[in-house]
Amino acid sequence: MASATPRPIVAGNWKMNGTSISLKEIRLLTGMLKGVRLKCDVMVCPPATLLSRVQGLTRSSRIRLGGQDCHDKVSGAHTGDVSADMLSDAGATAVIVGHSERRADHGETDAVVAAKAAAAHKSDLTAIVCIGETLAQRKAGETLRIIGAQLKKSLPASSTATNTVIAYEPVWAIGTGLTPTPAEIRAVHRHIRKGLLRIIGPKAGMRVPVLYGGSVKPGNAEELMAVEDVNGALVGGASLKAADFIGIIKAYT
Ligand code: 13P
Repeated sequence: MASATPRPIVAGNWKMNGTSISLKEIRLLTGMLKGVRLKCDVMVCPPATLLSRVQGLTRSSRIRLGGQDCHDKVSGAHTGDVSADMLSDAGATAVIVGHSERRADHGETDAVVAAKAAAAHKSDLTAIVCIGETLAQRKAGETLRIIGAQLKKSLPASSTATNTVIAYEPVWAIGTGLTPTPAEIRAVHRHIRKGLLRIIGPKAGMRVPVLYGGSVKPGNAEELMAVEDVNGALVGGASLKAADFIGIIKAYT
């Protein structure tokens, strides 16, 4: 029988960083992971331009690949966009949707995020659905309400325990070096778990991994990953260098 506790995931979101020269970090990472007993899955989400090359380098490793965004349509006249099918074809098994940078830069609403997650599911990709409050919302005491609403509206009906991951990323913690306290993270993750039980169902909702993201570094990973109901990390800046990323992964060795 499958365990009720989700297997943690440490995923690196490279954002708009990385050219051919960065492939050396993937080579270093695969080397560092050899022979290490891991209690988590490891994923790298490079820019779409590098996906198939990273796939070539990680094929025989345990590293999973993810895209950073997808269109909600399979194909068509959408210049510059990438479909979930294309990501899957390039070797991805997952895709991040609804990152706060997409929500801010491209005006993506919860409805758009849900459509993208549904497209990911149709292409057999795991949707890593990002939610998070702004500093103003936290200061106004609205965090749990905002998180609950984003969760409910960003998850499509196709969401299951095996095709969905949630990433809680407070907007104010991304790239700032600031993090919520363990108690604050715990309160939000508990709220997300309760929401998942309602939305996906009492059994399946227990098995959806809920990641924390926002200024996760080797120096704070152990403390943050030890917080109850945190099932891994979505890492930005510290995922770009293999030496830093492995320092975070080590929280699960
Ligand atoms: P940082 O780890 O750079 O704060 O970014 C977090 C993030 O946005 C991951 O998706």
